[in-house]
Amino acid sequence: MSDLRPASPFRLLRRTLLAWFRRNGRPLPFRESPDAWRVWVSEVMLQQTRVEAMLPRYRAFVARFPDPGALADASEDEVLAAWAGLGYYGRARALHRAARELAAAGGGIPDTAASLRRLPGIGDYTAAAIASIAFDEPVAAVDGNVRRVLSRLFMVEGFPGRAPFEGRVRELADRLMEADGGRDPGDWNQAVMELGATVCTPAVPRCGSCPVREFCWSRVAGRQTDFPGRPPRPAPVAVRLAVAVVRDREGRILVFRRGESPMRGLYELPCGECRSDESPETALVRETASRYGIRVEPAREVAGFRHTVMNRRIAVVPFEADLVDPAPGETVPGGRFVHPRDLDRIPSGSMLQKTLQRVASTRRTPGNPSRRLLVSARDDP
Ligand code: ADE
Repeated sequence: MSDLRPASPFRLLRRTLLAWFRRNGRPLPFRESPDAWRVWVSEVMLQQTRVEAMLPRYRAFVARFPDPGALADASEDEVLAAWAGLGYYGRARALHRAARELAAAGGGIPDTAASLRRLPGIGDYTAAAIASIAFDEPVAAVDGNVRRVLSRLFMVEGFPGRAPFEGRVRELADRLMEADGGRDPGDWNQAVMELGATVCTPAVPRCGSCPVREFCWSRVAGRQTDFPGRPPRPAPVAVRLAVAVVRDREGRILVFRRGESPMRGLYELPCGECRSDESPETALVRETASRYGIRVEPAREVAGFRHTVMNRRIAVVPFEADLVDPAPGETVPGGRFVHPRDLDRIPSGSMLQKTLQRVASTRRTPGNPSRRLLVSARDDP
C-alpha cells in the first residue's frame, strides 16, 4: 500500500537525491554486482584514490583475488605487488589479515556493520558501506564527501574531527537514512557520496546542477564554501635555526638520525635553534654540543633561506663547519658520514637538501668572497 502521509522535508530530500542518483550515478563495476567482497575491496581503494585512477587497479585486483579465500591463500608479497602504486600498503596488509581471519574461522564475510567492524582495517565508514550496499542494512556511511554534503545542506558549524560537528553530522545522516523507512540503504549512502564526489565538490560546488539545491540551507545563505569549517591555523612561530655542514677528509657529510616525532627516522644535519639574543655561530656551538655531543667550529656562513614546517617559519642559517671533537678521523657516536651523491638514498627532509644546495651554489670566488669567520665561536666571550 502506498504511504499517503505528507512527505517530510527529510523524506523529500531523500527521494529527490535517490532519483537523481539512479539517473546520474556513474556505472561503476562494484555497483553492477554489489557482492560484499567487491564492495569491500572498492571501498578500501576509494579511501585513498579517486574513482578514475582506482578502476583499473580494482579490476585487476578482483580478477587476481576473486574472493577473500584467494587473498588468504596468497603471500604478503603477492598481495603487495597487486596493490603496487596504490600506496597506503598498511591497508592492503589489513585486508590480507582480515581475509586470513575469515579463512581461519571458516566463514563468509560477516553481514552486519557491527560484525564487519571487528575485522582488521575496517572502520565505521567501511563497515557501514559494505553492510548497506551488499546486505541492505540501513546504516549511514559517513566519509569526507558525506560530511561536506551534510554540513552544507544543514549548515553544520564546527570542524570535521571535532565532537560537536561529528555528532551533528552523524545525527543528520542517521535521520536521513531512516526518513523513508530505511529503504535502499546502499543506494542512499552512495547517492550522498556521489553528490559529494561529482557536484558538491570542495572548492567550487556546482550548485546550478545540484538536484537538492532547494533543500540546501547554505546555498540560500550564499555560504556554501564556508562548510565544512576549517579550524583556524595556530599562529606561525618564527624560529632561527643554525645548521652545520661538517665534512670529513673524504668530503662526506655528517648527519644524525632524528629521534623525535614528527621527523622521527629522518636524517638531519647537526643544527640548533638560536635564542633571541644569540648569534647563530654561538647557537650552533652550544646546541650541537648539547644535542649531539660534538664540538664544531663554524667556518663559513652561507646565504640562508626560509623554510616552513607545519606552523614553524624557520630562517635557516647554514654554516660550513669543522669538527673539533671527536677529532677528525674518529667515529662520531650516533652520527654518520654520507657521501653527497648518496644523500638522496637516505631518508631526509627537504631542509637538508636545500641546505646542501645552498652550500654547493655559494662557492667562494675571488670577486665574491663569502664571509670566512674571523673569530671562531669557541673563542666567543
Ligand atoms: N566513495 C567511496 N565509496 C563510494 C561509492 N560507493 N560511491 C561513490 N563514491 C564513493
